[in-house]
Amino acid sequence: MLSDSLKIALASSYVFQIKVQNFHWNVEGPNFPQYHKFLDDLYAEINENAIDQTAELCRQLDSYAPGSITRFAELSIVQDQVKIPRAELMFEELYNDNLKLVDMWKQMFTIAEQENEQGVADFIASRIDAHGKHSWMLRSILKKERA
Ligand SMILES: [Fe+2]
Repeated sequence: MLSDSLKIALASSYVFQIKVQNFHWNVEGPNFPQYHKFLDDLYAEINENAIDQTAELCRQLDSYAPGSITRFAELSIVQDQVKIPRAELMFEELYNDNLKLVDMWKQMFTIAEQENEQGVADFIASRIDAHGKHSWMLRSILKKERA
């Protein structure tokens, strides 16, 4: 059901957002200023364009939105990170999480179309675009310099 998928998407986006904020606060290394800023922008993109919108779509579909840390942890497809990895591992982890989010939203797009919820499908398409852009940036950060 689309509303169940939206709950998972809300929880997964929230857990990802918290992880990005954790890394924004704690990243270290010679590229600290760029990393700190990049992670701030990534956090803001999710926060401004995904969280509240997904929760309110749950309500539009007459379902309650999960809104607790416990429920988010239960529902999320993104794993929480309690440690502080070194910078390269942070970006690898975010890259892999972001791929999971792209897949999740793509599967939901099909469900939204099947349930004839065009407005929700449009929102989902915007999330696929946003995470596609995040994939590009994270991949570029991880690319090794040519010798
Ligand atoms: Fe900050």
